[in-house]
Formats: sequence, structure tokens, C-alpha cells
Amino acid sequence: MMIERENEIIKSSILKGEEEAEKTLRPETLDQYIGQERVKEQLNIFIQAAKMRDEPLDHVLLYGPPGLGKTTLSTIISHEMNVNIRITSGPAIERPGDLAAILTNLNPNDVLFIDEIHRLNRSVEEILYPAMEDYALDIIIGKGPSARSIRLELSKFTLIGATTRAGSLTSPLRDRFGVVCKLDYYSDKELIDIIKRSADILKIQINQEGAEEISKRSRGTPRIANRILKRVRDYALVKADGIIDSSVAHYALEMLEIDQNGLDQVDRKLLKTIIDFYNGGPVGVDTLAASIGEESITIEDVCEPYLMQKGFLSRTPRGRVATEKAYRYFNLAFNKSKQISFNGEE
Ligand code: ADE
Repeated sequence: MMIERENEIIKSSILKGEEEAEKTLRPETLDQYIGQERVKEQLNIFIQAAKMRDEPLDHVLLYGPPGLGKTTLSTIISHEMNVNIRITSGPAIERPGDLAAILTNLNPNDVLFIDEIHRLNRSVEEILYPAMEDYALDIIIGKGPSARSIRLELSKFTLIGATTRAGSLTSPLRDRFGVVCKLDYYSDKELIDIIKRSADILKIQINQEGAEEISKRSRGTPRIANRILKRVRDYALVKADGIIDSSVAHYALEMLEIDQNGLDQVDRKLLKTIIDFYNGGPVGVDTLAASIGEESITIEDVCEPYLMQKGFLSRTPRGRVATEKAYRYFNLAFNKSKQISFNGEE
């Protein structure tokens, strides 16, 4: 029971029923958007230039861990460009015809946002190449020797692709993006500002210390910060007088089993398994996934980037390794030689 609840807090994807709340918290302009300063600065210039030329913005690839604002930035881009946005995802576009239908319905300069673009299937991806490059669809009519290809003109548009793993994109696709932006984890200070902004919108009373406490445990991710904020609000309502200060936030987060570093049960289990069962590593991600009963993709996209950023885990060519900091976290003695000469014993 506890595990499920906690998993949901850290979970990367937008949860069911959360879309509406996400929308109300989503900033609409670059000015309202907190953090990712370099990305904002670049986009601001490219958007202004595109508008001055009365052309669509060049195709944009946004990559980085889940929950950092890729969809939000895309809606902001469409807002700033004064155009419509069509939102879809790689796995949702099953056949080339699905994509053709979307592309032929776009108005001039519109934004097409494809989330998880690395999961597009190959036949769909091939439709995208001429669409991105020449704003054209190549359609094959007929079969066998009489088959011929006709070219259909499309409106000029901007494709925004989002992915957690830029390395999984094929190079012909990656090369067709004129603007490539990497989103990074947010600083505590940025998260505090985001939490206060969200609290304001949701009419939640929170003080500076309460926001600080939540920010420290949100793993640099606004989506998690906003999710925790709502859970802490419930706690404050039932257990306190509705105001979130540092002690209310602290106890609520204890209840949610999210620690001072933002690690949850899954992260702790992952590190402890590497230490206890694999002598600190190296261990392959699939073996690790099977050992802790999680999917490899969750480990790779959600747990690992954060654990590596915090210095608890390192990735080596031979597999994952728990760092000295991970041993210290569990109050365990670290013996470097143990990791290198794996002998299966203590
Ligand atoms: N809500 C979620 N992400 C945000 C961001 N980067 N800035 C402002 N509000 C947000």
C-alpha cells in the first residue's frame, strides 16, 4: 500500500486525473517559466527571429529526464508564436497514415508536439523526414510496377520532439532538428519559486521554510514538487491548521517515505541491492531490474539519472556501481577493492 502510494509520487509520467491540475499550474509564457535559463534565452531569440521573418520556428528537440517541463515548454512555444499546438506521442502514432492525417490537418506555422519521439516506429519516422525537410508528404499510389509516388504539399510547421533519451534517436531524425535543447534538473532555489507559484495558484498557504523542505526532496523535478505539494496540503489540513511550514512538510514527507535527498523506496532498494547482492557492483541493469522487480526502463530513465546526479551511483561499461556516498548513506563501510575483485564473498 505504502509502496504504491510512494511510487506514484516519484513516478515520471503524468498520472490519471492529474492532467487538469497540471494544466492549471503550467506557465503560459517564457516569462512565467522558472528555471532552464539557457534554454529559455535561446528559445526566446529563435522565437522572436521566426516571428520577424513570419516563418515557423525551426524544428526543436527537447531532451532530458521526465517531469522537467518538455510539454510545458512546447505549449509556451506555441503560445509565444501565436499558433495552435497538436500534442501526440511516438507510441500513439501507429501507422504512417496516422501521421499523414495529423500533418495534413496542420495550419501554417502550427506546432506538432511528439512526446517520446524515440518510440516512433520506423515506417512512421520515414514519413517525417520529407515532412520536416520540405514540408511534403510522399505518398505511394498503387502496387507493383504501376506504383508511383506523388508529393503532397503541407503547411509549414514546427515539429517539437521530446525524449528522455536523445541517444535512442536515429541520426537521420536527430539531424533534422535545427534547435536541440537539453533540460536539466532544477536547483532548490528554482523549485522553491515553482512551489510558491503553484501554492499561490492552488490557494495553499505555505511559508518559505515549508517550500524549502519540499524543494529538497523533489529530485530537481517540478512535476514531483507539485505532486508533493498537494499531498502535504492534505496532511496540513488534517493534522495542522492548513498552513504548510517546515515541520508540517517534514512530517508529511516522512509519512510519504521520501527522504532528505529525495530518494524513495525504489531508489533505496536499488542501491541496497547493488551493495548487498552484487558487492557494490558492477551489475547490469536488466539483472538489477529483475532483482528489485522494476522495469529496466524505469530504472534507466527515472532512478538512475537522479542517483548519478546526486553521486550515489555510477555507470561503468561493465554495469552499475554503488559509490562510496551510497555506502555512507546506509552507514556501511566502503571497501573499494571489494568492488573490483568480485569473489562472491564478503
Ligand atoms: N510548473 C511546473 N514547471 C514550472 C516551471 N518551470 N516554471 C513555473 N511553473 C512551473
